[in-house]
Amino acid sequence: MAIPEQFLDELNARTDILDVVSGYVTLNKKGANYWGLCPFHHEKTPSFSVSPDKQIFHCFGCGKGGGVIRFVMEMENLSFPDAVANLARRVGMEVPQQQYGDKERRQRRERVLALNKEAARFYHRNLERPQGAQVAAYIGKRRISRRFVNRFGLGAAADAWDTLIKAMAAKGYDKADLLEAGLAVAGKNGGIYDKFRNRLMLPVIDVRGDVIGFTSRVMDGSAPKYLNTPETALFKKRSILYGLNYAKNTKRPNMILVEGNIDVITLHQAGFDNAVATMGTALTEEHVRILSRYTRELVLCYDNDNAGKDATQRAIALLRGAQFAVKVLQLPRRRTDGGELVKQDADDFIKYQGAEAFEGLLGRSENSVEYRLGEVRAKYDLDQDEARAAYLQEAAAIIAALPSPVEREIYGGRVAEAARVSAGSVEQEVERLRRRRAKEARRKEERQALTPTMSLQPARRELRYTNVRSARAEEGVLRVLLLDGDYFDQLEGLEPSMFSSPLLGKVYQLLLQRHQAGRPCTLSALEGVLEGPEMDHLTAVLQAPLSRGSAAQALEDYIGVIRQEAEGRGGLSQEEELLRMRARFKETKGYGGKGQ
Ligand code: UTP
Ligand code: MN
Repeated sequence: MAIPEQFLDELNARTDILDVVSGYVTLNKKGANYWGLCPFHHEKTPSFSVSPDKQIFHCFGCGKGGGVIRFVMEMENLSFPDAVANLARRVGMEVPQQQYGDKERRQRRERVLALNKEAARFYHRNLERPQGAQVAAYIGKRRISRRFVNRFGLGAAADAWDTLIKAMAAKGYDKADLLEAGLAVAGKNGGIYDKFRNRLMLPVIDVRGDVIGFTSRVMDGSAPKYLNTPETALFKKRSILYGLNYAKNTKRPNMILVEGNIDVITLHQAGFDNAVATMGTALTEEHVRILSRYTRELVLCYDNDNAGKDATQRAIALLRGAQFAVKVLQLPRRRTDGGELVKQDADDFIKYQGAEAFEGLLGRSENSVEYRLGEVRAKYDLDQDEARAAYLQEAAAIIAALPSPVEREIYGGRVAEAARVSAGSVEQEVERLRRRRAKEARRKEERQALTPTMSLQPARRELRYTNVRSARAEEGVLRVLLLDGDYFDQLEGLEPSMFSSPLLGKVYQLLLQRHQAGRPCTLSALEGVLEGPEMDHLTAVLQAPLSRGSAAQALEDYIGVIRQEAEGRGGLSQEEELLRMRARFKETKGYGGKGQ
C-alpha cells in the first residue's frame, strides 16, 4: 500500500470517529454507544451505532461497519486514499508524498478519460464518413435531430475489427490503454480487436463532463441489443445516470426516470431536459443518493409492460423514505393500425402522441400511493362481492404502511368510496393491520435481542464459517484482544494456523504482528488491509458483550476450544452446537422464556 502505516496510525489516533460521524448523523448517547439513523439504508428507528471506545461504527440494520476511514469512504463515495486525504485535511496532517501508487492511479484514470474522449470524437466524426453511413441513416430513422446528435455526442462504430485501434494508435494510445478503457478486447493470439463494431455509439458522460464509457446499439435485430463498456473503477453501472450531465441543469421542478438511453435523448429533444436513465439496470441506493443531490421530485416513467410495472413497484419500495417526492407517470398502451394494443416506452409515446401529450401525462402523474392503489384496483372487478373484499384487504395493507394519519384518512376514504363501503370499516381494517404490524415488529426485535451473535455468519459466502464452535471462540479471542492489549501476553502459543476461519485467522495474525511491532491494535487500524464485507462482519463480532472482569477466564476457555477443534476433536454438529450455545446464552443472560 502506498500510504505509510505509521501515517495511518497517527491519523487514526488524531481522528475521533464520533466527531466525524456527527457531521453527518444526529447521534444520541445510550449506554456506552451513540445511536442514530443509519445513513446507508433507510430506517425510521435508529440501529446505527458508534462506539467511541472502539472507534468503530456498526449498523444493526444493514450490517455495515468499520472505522472512520470506511465511514468516509462510504459516505462520500471515495477511494481509500481519497478518504485518508479527506480526513488528514480535517486534522491538519499532510499525506506523505510517498503515495505514488495513488498518483499513478490518478494518472491512469486521466489517460483512460482522455482516450475515451478521443474515441468519442472519432466515432462522432465517423457519422460524416462512408463507414458511418448506415448508423447515420439509423439515427434518422430514430428521428434524432442533428442538434441532439451533437448534444449527446452520438457516433458510429464501423463494421470492421480495428478502425478504432488504428485511429487511437495514431494518437499515441497503445494496446494496454485500449484494453483498460474497454474499447478493445484481447484476441486469442495476443492481438486485440475493436470491442464496438457496426453500432450506434452513445458516450456516457458524467456530471463533470468526462466520457466515462460507452453504450451502443445494434441496428438490426441481433443480440445483444445494447452493449456497454465493461465494469471498471471508472464505469460503475450501479451509480451511473445517463443524461444527468444535462438534467442537473434543468429548470423543471423534477426529474424523469426512464428505462432506456434513447428514451432520454428523445425526451430531451422534445423539451424534457430533466430525463435520466439507469444503464439498463434496476435503480440502486447509490442512484437514489445521487438523485437526492439534484432534485426534489422524481417521476418514474418505465415501460408500460409487466417488466416495467414490476420495476416501478421495486423502485417505489427502494425510494420509500428518499429525500425527494416520488411520482409515477403511466404511459398508456398504444393501439396499432391493426387494432392491437401494444406496449410503448417514452420514446414511442413521443413519436406517436407528441411532446404536448407527454406534458399532459407528466402533469397528471400520480404519487406513489395513488399509483399502487390504482394497480391493485385494476386487478379486481368491484361489482363482485368477493373481489371487493379482496381489494379492500390489499388496499388496506398499502394504507396501513403509511406513516401519516392524514394520508391514511385520505386514501382510506378513497378506497372506501371505490369499494362502496363506509370509511369507518376501512379505517377499522387499517388499524387492525397496524396493530398486527407493530406486534410483528416487536417480536422481531425480541428475536434479534435473543440471538445477537448466535446466528451471525458473515454475509459474504466465501467468508462463512465451516466450524462454528471454533469460529465463536476465535471471535471471542479477537474481542478480548481488541478490548485490552495486555491480553496479548496470555495467548499461550495460540497460532493463527489453528484458526478455522481464514478471515478471523488473518485478523489475528495482523494483530499479533502489530502488537510485536509496538503499534496500536485496534480494528480501525486494519482498515487499509480489510475489505468492506470483512469489516462489516468484524464490527458485528465486536458488538457482543464482554466485561473486563470475565475477560481473562473467557480467553482461556476460547483458546481451549480452538486448540481442541484444531486437533480435530469437537464431534458436535453445527446445529447441535448452535442449540447448545443458545441455551447457554439464555442461562447467562436471563432471557430464558421471553418472546418464544
Ligand atoms: P429496451 O430493450 O427496453 O430498449 O432496453 P429501448 O430503450 O426501448 O431501446 P430501443 O428503443 O429499442 O433502442 C432498455 C434499456 O436496457 C438496457 C439499455 O440501457 C436500454 O436502453 N439494455 C437493453 C441493455 O443494457 N442491454 C440489452 O441487451 C438491452
Ligand atoms: Mn425504445
